[in-house]
Amino acid sequence: MKSVVFLHYFLGFILLVSHLNSVSSWKKEEFRNCNQTPFCKRARSRKPQHCKLIATDVIIGDGDLTAKLITPKEFQENPDEDSSGIASNPLILSLSVYENGILRMKIDEDASRNPPKKRFEVPDVILPEFESKKLWLQRYTKQVIDGDSADSFVVYLFDGYEAVLRSDPLEVFVREQSSGKRVLSFNSHGLFDFEQLRVKKEGDDWEERFRSHTDSRPYGPQSISFDMSFYGADFVYGIPEHATSLSLKPTKGPGIEESEPYRLFNLDVFEYLHESPFGLYGSIPFMLSHGRTRGTSGFFWLNAAEMQIDVLGSGWDAESSIMLPSDQNRIDTLWMSEAGIVDTFFFIGPKPKDVVKQYASVTGTSAMPQLFATGYHQCRWNYRDEEDVKNVDSKFDEYDIPYDVLWLDIEHTDGKRYFTWDKALFPNPEEMQKDLASRGRRMVTIVDPHIKRDENYHIHKEASKNGYYVKDASGKDYDGWCWPGSSSYIDMVNPDIRSWWADKFAYTQYVGSTPSLYIWNDMNEPSVFNGPERYGTVWTGDNTATWEQLRVSVPMILTLGLTGITFSGADVGGFFGNPDSELLVRWYQVAAYMPFFRGHAHHDTKRREPWLFGEHNTKLMRDAIRVRYTLLPYFYTLFREANVSGVPVTRPMWMEFPDDEATFNNDEAFMVGNGLLVQGVYTEHAKDVTVYLPKDHTWYDLRSGTAYKGGKTQKIEAADAIPVFQRSGTIIPRKDRFRRSTVQMENDPYTLVIAVDSSGEAEGELYIDDGKSYEFNKGAYIHRRFVFSNGTLTSVNLAAGTQFLSDCTIERIILLGHLSKPKSARIEPSNHAAEVELGPLQIQSKIRSSVLTIRKPNVRVSDDWTIKLL
Ligand SMILES: *[C@@H]1O[C@H](CO)[C@@H](O)[C@H](O)[C@H]1NC(C)=O
Ligand SMILES: *[C@@H]1O[C@H](CO)[C@@H](O)[C@H](O)[C@H]1NC(C)=O
Repeated sequence: MKSVVFLHYFLGFILLVSHLNSVSSWKKEEFRNCNQTPFCKRARSRKPQHCKLIATDVIIGDGDLTAKLITPKEFQENPDEDSSGIASNPLILSLSVYENGILRMKIDEDASRNPPKKRFEVPDVILPEFESKKLWLQRYTKQVIDGDSADSFVVYLFDGYEAVLRSDPLEVFVREQSSGKRVLSFNSHGLFDFEQLRVKKEGDDWEERFRSHTDSRPYGPQSISFDMSFYGADFVYGIPEHATSLSLKPTKGPGIEESEPYRLFNLDVFEYLHESPFGLYGSIPFMLSHGRTRGTSGFFWLNAAEMQIDVLGSGWDAESSIMLPSDQNRIDTLWMSEAGIVDTFFFIGPKPKDVVKQYASVTGTSAMPQLFATGYHQCRWNYRDEEDVKNVDSKFDEYDIPYDVLWLDIEHTDGKRYFTWDKALFPNPEEMQKDLASRGRRMVTIVDPHIKRDENYHIHKEASKNGYYVKDASGKDYDGWCWPGSSSYIDMVNPDIRSWWADKFAYTQYVGSTPSLYIWNDMNEPSVFNGPERYGTVWTGDNTATWEQLRVSVPMILTLGLTGITFSGADVGGFFGNPDSELLVRWYQVAAYMPFFRGHAHHDTKRREPWLFGEHNTKLMRDAIRVRYTLLPYFYTLFREANVSGVPVTRPMWMEFPDDEATFNNDEAFMVGNGLLVQGVYTEHAKDVTVYLPKDHTWYDLRSGTAYKGGKTQKIEAADAIPVFQRSGTIIPRKDRFRRSTVQMENDPYTLVIAVDSSGEAEGELYIDDGKSYEFNKGAYIHRRFVFSNGTLTSVNLAAGTQFLSDCTIERIILLGHLSKPKSARIEPSNHAAEVELGPLQIQSKIRSSVLTIRKPNVRVSDDWTIKLL
C-alpha cells in the first residue's frame, strides 16, 4: 500500500507546487477591490476609538482568564439594540498562556445566549499536542493603567513578560515585565468591531453581489476587524502570498499613497503582477515584526475567511491616544475578515528563530522530503509522449547534467480524467517508469482535485454516488469549469472523503503506477475558471519570464519560509513567456539555492531544456545544477532542522543577523541555513553585482575561497555565476563527485568545508538517513556536529537511539581562513596521518586564492574521531 506514503508526500507537495496553465491573462476588473468588498470598505473607513466595548466579569476559570465584553449603557441607544439594529449581546473573551511565550486570545459570541448559528472555527490546523503545552493560569493581579477609571488584569506569560487585559478602554497587550514596554497590542486604537449573527427581519437586505455572483448571507454580515500594534518594530513581514517585497510596505496612513490592503484570498491568478498586495494562491494570516531594539514578535489569526490587512504608515498614531516612549518605533496594522471568530496567537520572540519556533509549535513543522525531491526536477506542460520522455531523459545524460525527476502535466491523461493515461501517447506507463528508475530517476504525474463530470469515468461515478463533492447553496454538486470542462470538486474538509481519495493512489487503483511514481497535486486553490473570485491552497504560481519576476521570486519564497512553508520554489525560467538565454541562466543560478528546484513552462512557450541555448549557456546551467547537487548534504541537513524546529531552509538575512540593520530590508540576497549567503543577479548584461555582507564576519567566495570583510557592500565579479559566500565560523558538508542523480551519490564520500572565524573556530552539522522511508522517525539516522577549535576538528554524535548505518567516509577537508600551514594531520582514535596541501580550490575561477586541504583523512561519517593539525 503506498497510499499513506503518498498522502504524506502529497501534503508536503500541496504547499509547494502548482502550475497554472492559463486561459486568459490578468484582468483587473475580474477581481474585487476593497471598495467593492463591503466588510473591507466599512472597516477601512472607521475612525480610531470606534470601539465602545469594555471588559467586565473578569475571572480565572479552567486555567484561562475570561471576561465579558459589553457596550456600556450610555453608548446603547436602546438597551437591546444599537443604532444599526444590532443586538448588543456580550462577547466572550478568553486569554490562555502556552509554553515558551505564546498568548492565545479568543473572542466569540456568548454561546449561552443561543446565537442563531455557531460561527465557523477552523479545524485541523492547530497541532493536537499544542493543548498539552497550556500553562494553567492560577491568578491575576490588578493594576490601574494610565489613570484609567477601571482596573486592568495582569497575568504571567513567560520569563520577563506578562499579558494585560485593560478593561476600559478595552485593550489586550503583552509587555516586558521590568520596563513595562509594550511588545504587541490589540485594539490600542479602538478599531475592534465584531458583527454578531442575527435573525433576518422584514426589509433586511443582506445580499452581496459581485459581477455575476451573489452571496445570500442568511445570518447577515458577520465581519470582524481590529488593530494590532507591533512595538520596537522597524519592519513587518509575512502574510503570504503576494508578489511583493519582503518587508511589507505601508498601504494607508498620512503621507502614504493609499493602496489596496494586502488581500488574503486564494486566487488562481494568470500572469500575476509583481509589486502588488493582491491575493495569490495561498493565504497565511501570520505576520512578524523585527526591529533592532526590541527584536522579533509575531501574530497569527487562525481564520479561513477572506481577509484584508492594512499596514498603516508611521505618523498614523497622531490620531490615537497612545503615548509611546520616543525610543520605541511602532507599526500599526488593521486586520479585517469577512467572518469566523477571533482566535489569535501572540508570539513574543524575542529572536527571529524564537518566533518561527513558537509559530511552529502551534501549526506544526514541514515534513521531511525524500532526498531525491531536493534534487533538480524537469517539468513542462507537456512532455508529449513516451518518445519525448525518453529523449529528454537521455539528453540529460548526453549533456552530463544531473536531475532526479521528470514530470508529466495534464495532457498525459485520457481527456483530463486524472489517474488515467492517454492510451495512444502513453501506452506503456509502467515500462516508461521502470526505464527511468533503472537510471535512478523518478516520475511525477499530475492529479488535480477537480473531477470531470463524465458518467463513464469511475472516479466521478463513485464521488457523485457517495455524495463526495462540494455542494452549492441549493445542495447540488457544485459544477464549475476547469481543464476537463464541466467539473466537480472533492470535499477535502471531510476526513472520510480524504481517506477515500488517498486510497485512489494505491497501485491497484491507480493503474499504470509503479513505486517510482509520485504525485503532483495542482490547481488546489481549487481553481475554477468561470470567475476567478472563489476559493482555495502554494508555490509561487504562474510567474512570467521577466527579470522582475525572477527578482520577486526571492522575497516570495523567503516569506513562505517564514510562515512555515519551507519547501517552495518558483518555476525556473518563468511559467509564461520565453526567457532569453541570459535570463534563463540567471534563473537557474538563483533557483539552485531555493528549497524546491524545478524547471517548468507553459505549453505555448518554446522548448527550454538546458541544452537548447548553445554550449556556453548549457555549461552555465550545468554548473548551477551541479553546485546544487554538491550541496545536497547541506540542504538535507537544513530540511531536518526545518522538520524539527520550523526554522526555514532559506532565510531572510535579518533572521541570521538580527542586529545588523542593513539586512532588515534586503531581499536581493538571502541565506541558505546559517552558512551560505546567496546574491542573485537580476539585471541584464551584468558583469558584476554589489552585495552587502553582514558585519562581524568574514565571507569566503565559494568559487575561489577569496575572503571579504563584512559590514560593507562589495562589488563582486558575476559574469558566469552568481556570488555565493560561506560565512566565517561555519562548516559545510558537500559531495563533490558528479553523478546522474541522487541515487548514484548515495555511497559517495563527503567533503567538509571549514571557514574559520577570527578566533580560529567553526562548527556545522551533518544529518543523514536513508533518504526515502519514515524510519528516521524511529531514530534511524546519523546526526553529527563538527567542531573546529584550536587546530582540531572533532565529530560529535547528536543522534540518540538506534543509528542508521553508513560506510560513507570524508575524503577531503578544505580550510578557509586558516593562517598557519601545518605539515600534516593526525587522526584519532585510529592514530594515522593525512597529508595537508596548500593550493587553489578545485572549482574553476578567475581569482584563485590558496586554501589548505586535508587529503584523504578517510574517517567514517558515522564514527567519533578527531583530526589534529600538526
Ligand atoms: C518530520 O517529518 C515527518 C514526515 O516526513 C513527520 O512524520 C514528523 O512528524 C516530522 N517531525 C516533526 C518534529 O514535525
Ligand atoms: C591548543 O593546542 C595546543 C597545541 O596542541 C595546546 O598546547 C593547547 O593547550 C591547546 N589549547 C586549548 C585551549 O585547548
